[in-house]
Amino acid sequence: MNVKVLENYEELSQLAASLIEQQVQEYPQSVLGLATGGTPLGAYKHVIRRYKQGNIDYSNVSSINLDEYVGLDKTHSQSYHLFMKEQLFDHINIREDQTYIPDGKTSSLYQECKRYEGIIDEIGPPDLQLLGIGENGHIGFNEPGTSFTSLTHIVNLELSTRQANARFFNSFDEVPKQAITMGIGSILKSKQIVLLASGERKAEAIKRLLEGPVDEQFPASALHDHKNVTLLVDQASYQLV
Ligand code: GLP
Repeated sequence: MNVKVLENYEELSQLAASLIEQQVQEYPQSVLGLATGGTPLGAYKHVIRRYKQGNIDYSNVSSINLDEYVGLDKTHSQSYHLFMKEQLFDHINIREDQTYIPDGKTSSLYQECKRYEGIIDEIGPPDLQLLGIGENGHIGFNEPGTSFTSLTHIVNLELSTRQANARFFNSFDEVPKQAITMGIGSILKSKQIVLLASGERKAEAIKRLLEGPVDEQFPASALHDHKNVTLLVDQASYQLV
């Protein structure tokens, strides 16, 4: 794992945006694996800003998102569909029909998982997969104990994950209890992975990722089994290493 320690969130976000742009400039038909949560927001802002300066063309790019809450409509304010539209897709020239996010409102969740894994295999795998990390080491919504060979599946969200994400909802009770997520095996299919972590809140997880064993109880440790992973951390998230 290639580790880059940046001074702060701003620098980390700029570098993450540059890695996305380099990928797209080198290969305009790139498939980007995209993540939600607070951490990638800065990177998306820089991608949008530089797109507006006119240098990068996303019209041939496809994107595959990691996960979506079960039960939220695509237009729900906290759905990852709306998040991606508002934070990125509406501001660059990526084609809407080339952006993929699991459907959390489907009548058959099992079928949706199979369909989505099919998309990863047909459209993807991502040339570059962006990832955040949960405080408990989750990637996507793969909670501790998830098999490293898992494909897209339904998860029951841990209480701690629901609590961590409650800040985006009006109340804790509104946070969905389940999600559809690419599995760890699906994520490991990506050609290159860029994991972002920022802030003191992530310091324990980063220490465990870099110093702990490869263990299904800590999902992000699966990344040690991948050949091309870059970890971008800021000083705050790296302080315990
Ligand atoms: C959510 C997402 C993850 C994300 C994690 C951390 O649970 N499903 O993809 O990495 O939260 O989020 P944040 O970046 O807001 O700390």
